Amino acid sequence: MNSPSQSQAPLQAPKGTRDFYPEDMRVQNHLFDVWRRACLDFGFEEYEGPTFENLELFTEKSGQEIVTQLYNFKDKGDRDIALRPEMTPTLARMVNQKGNSLKLPLRWFSIPRLFRYEKSQRGRLREFFQLNMDIIGCESIAAEVDLLSAIIGMLKAFGLDSKDFSIQVSSRRLLSEFLDRQGVAADKKAPVYAALDKRAKLGETEFRNLLAKEGLTPASIDAIEAFFKCKGLEELKAYFPASAASEEAAAPDTASASVPGAPAPKVAKSGLWELEKLFEYMHALGYGDYLNLDLSVVRGLAYYTGIVFEVYDKGIGMRAVAGGGRYDNLLASLGGNSLTGVGFGMGDVVLADLLREKNLLPSGREPLDYFLVDVSPNDSKLPNPQLMLLAQKLRAEGRRVGYSLSGEKVKKQMSQANDQGAGRVLFFGSDKGTEGRYEVKDLKTGEQSVSAFEDL
Ligand code: HAM
Repeated sequence: MNSPSQSQAPLQAPKGTRDFYPEDMRVQNHLFDVWRRACLDFGFEEYEGPTFENLELFTEKSGQEIVTQLYNFKDKGDRDIALRPEMTPTLARMVNQKGNSLKLPLRWFSIPRLFRYEKSQRGRLREFFQLNMDIIGCESIAAEVDLLSAIIGMLKAFGLDSKDFSIQVSSRRLLSEFLDRQGVAADKKAPVYAALDKRAKLGETEFRNLLAKEGLTPASIDAIEAFFKCKGLEELKAYFPASAASEEAAAPDTASASVPGAPAPKVAKSGLWELEKLFEYMHALGYGDYLNLDLSVVRGLAYYTGIVFEVYDKGIGMRAVAGGGRYDNLLASLGGNSLTGVGFGMGDVVLADLLREKNLLPSGREPLDYFLVDVSPNDSKLPNPQLMLLAQKLRAEGRRVGYSLSGEKVKKQMSQANDQGAGRVLFFGSDKGTEGRYEVKDLKTGEQSVSAFEDL
């Protein structure tokens, strides 16, 4: 039999997954640190759920076709299980399970590991992390303003600015009102949204055919195409002359509000009014430069009902860094109270690519405060226990400390100190040191001193 080293190439990780070597973990930790800090600064609390859920949780709202896009299996108890492809259904389930005992509005965040069975390509993997920030139980656009401000704040904290990314905003509510005027029946809206979401990927003919299949007339399709080209609120007002000035919605989106027995959340505002208010607030906060009206943003997921948005990198690729929106009926459709939610997901893959291109990722390893160099290593090839004891005492004082594990020559120990990014070396057993005092060299300045333990 051949030994593995003679005949086999090393085994590879599954397609679309990543290994995180220490240098990759440094990047990952940086993303998570900035994300977490931004969430805490905005008063959000962290939560987590299981990485796998009952498949039903995902098919309930999105239908069986979602199964082709996720990892699912039967467990040994013959239960249909899926690895979570997104966090929002888990969040809805968790909130529903607590019933009325939670104090609203909730402002929760999570950084789940997600799994999607999709074609792996640049920026899209089969396993990735995604920051989720959601507000549950706030009906006004204050929630959207808060979340968009958090996105801008955290991307700025990474070193990005309005020249690097933009937030494209639209409204499912507005689109729904427009489709009502085109005579599109409530139960046809979901497939129309799905077609509109794919608009950029489909050719003109394919797109028109898809809408025609849903029963839309050529005149309605022309009207939709024209509507999608609106680039500003002023243009939009021409489409909705009455609702521009009023808060009243022309018609609620009944397509996704059809939860038997559950009252739909009160949604009195028109789509246009909400968009106007959102832009007004974002301008007032000094974030006007980041926001664009873009009616072609529909979002693929079925549960959105209000404002929707995508955050795009402004480079050639125009990759989606984040996406989200308001979902009025998701919680009720999963058997819970009629509560509205708004949230977004920001993936780690595109964000890290973008930061790498802009040279905004941390380099170098976490430094050590001290590397203890044994000036007279013994022949046992083991570290001196007294040196290890000193390391232990320094660590107890909060210092990061390293040393050689195999009693090498001083030169080799010095090179280890450099490799491990030590700020200073401490010469253990040096002549210059006396009882309780140690010779120390600052590796940056080259300065040498003799210090008492308390001064280290
Ligand atoms: P999503 O648009 O499916 O939304 O994903 C949001 C972000 O996750 C994308 O903009 C992208 O950065 C990242 N992402 C998605 N798929 C992949 C992938 N295969 N590989 C790498 N990154 C990916 C949602 O997931 C919603 N649940 C977000 C949400 C939260 N809506 C409300 N609350």
